[in-house]
Amino acid sequence: MRFFPVKRASCVKGEILLLGDKSIACRSIIISAISCGKTTVENFPPNKDCLYAIKTFKNLGIKITQNQKVKTITVFGNGLCGLKKPKGPIFVGDSGTTLRLTLGVLAGQNFAVTLTAGKSLSGRHMLRVTAPLRMMGVEISARRTPKTKNLTPNTKFEEYPPITIRGGNLKPITYRMPVASAQVKSAILLAGLYAKGKTCVIERVKSRDHTERMLRLFRAGIKVNDNAIIIKGKKELVSPGRIFIPGDISSAGFFMVLGTILPNSRILIKDINLNPSRIGIIKVLKRMGSDIQVSGNSAVGFEPRGDIIIKSSKLKSTIIKKKEIPSLIDELPILMVAACFAKGESVFEGVGELRIKETDRIISMSENLKKMGADIRVLSATSRGGSAKNCGGKTVRSEKIIIQGGRSLIGATVKSFGDHRTAMSMVVAGLAAEGKTRIDNITCINKSFPNFLSLLKTIIH
Ligand code: S3P
Repeated sequence: MRFFPVKRASCVKGEILLLGDKSIACRSIIISAISCGKTTVENFPPNKDCLYAIKTFKNLGIKITQNQKVKTITVFGNGLCGLKKPKGPIFVGDSGTTLRLTLGVLAGQNFAVTLTAGKSLSGRHMLRVTAPLRMMGVEISARRTPKTKNLTPNTKFEEYPPITIRGGNLKPITYRMPVASAQVKSAILLAGLYAKGKTCVIERVKSRDHTERMLRLFRAGIKVNDNAIIIKGKKELVSPGRIFIPGDISSAGFFMVLGTILPNSRILIKDINLNPSRIGIIKVLKRMGSDIQVSGNSAVGFEPRGDIIIKSSKLKSTIIKKKEIPSLIDELPILMVAACFAKGESVFEGVGELRIKETDRIISMSENLKKMGADIRVLSATSRGGSAKNCGGKTVRSEKIIIQGGRSLIGATVKSFGDHRTAMSMVVAGLAAEGKTRIDNITCINKSFPNFLSLLKTIIH
């Protein structure tokens, strides 16, 4: 096993430009592929997940060319029903966004496909997406096992990849989301493009809205009324020709926290996505006392973007409420690191979804940070949850993380748990800790941010 050594940095200074947002990039391939016309996608991130999204759609008969020098890809769309039956099963790697959203478009094709996944994605819950697609009339079979966690209500089993889907005549549905999940919402909206009539998705708490924005850009019949999204089926999408993907705010999160907790630091991050459904990390860090300035926030294009400047500052504790979680779900690991450096007790409420990410991030982050001397507690409470319709009146577990911060972390040997965001969070923790830190197996970082370490080197002093 190779360990990656990290030692304390004195400060970070400089300017960085990040590759395009992973969520938007995956959607750009999927939506371009089922639209009419050619789409050139600029600032495309060549991370593992996005490369698997390209491979998946090439397997479905879509021509996609890549120009790595200028970081663009060109997708030659074939219309809503223009995907081709692949020769065999398609392996989607560990990209949850690719798998769940692709199920949405396969729901409308008149052939059967089997999607297989890597080790980590093969262990992730799929019933939350297969259940609503079945309600629309799709035939789906998946690997089933008796349930261990009550994450999708009203069933005694859970479903996992491999998944075989046979699309067909879809009927529109109105679906109330039992959990906030942009992947599930997107799969239903994409399937709604194929249903005769209007499909409606109602969210209790809004999740990231990249699919809605991109569908509007591709001239879909889509309307958003508060928490309800309505999509009109059987209308071809039209490519806008060119899309620019702003920098990934989740990748920026690691630099925001590092620039805050290291003394004498200043980082300028140019041209990042500032979609209101993704800026939870900026709001929380500012509330904790972080000196973050946002400038040039322009609403030009389909996704707002701008520059941010982060300067070192003393942090104080905060309470992150359950309703804020969807806007910062992928930033919780790095915010846990920030909380260790904040004076007082920080509380992260309603974090149960962290259990079912690439790894159980409550375990990965709390075990690692405890090894570095952090004071972390995880509390689980069980209650009769939600309306009978959404939760079957069953018991729902809510989980809380409590971090008593304000004392320095001490270098230790920690594990990535094969999870990119745990690995990068631990690199940041190691750079701000006293002494030496070693992290096992950090190649998983390539899943979202292959140039993380090289960018980091340019600003470390
Ligand atoms: C994503 C949505 C979120 C997020 C994931 C990417 C997306 O997952 O955690 O990394 O691209 O839509 P959920 O949809 O499961 O909340």
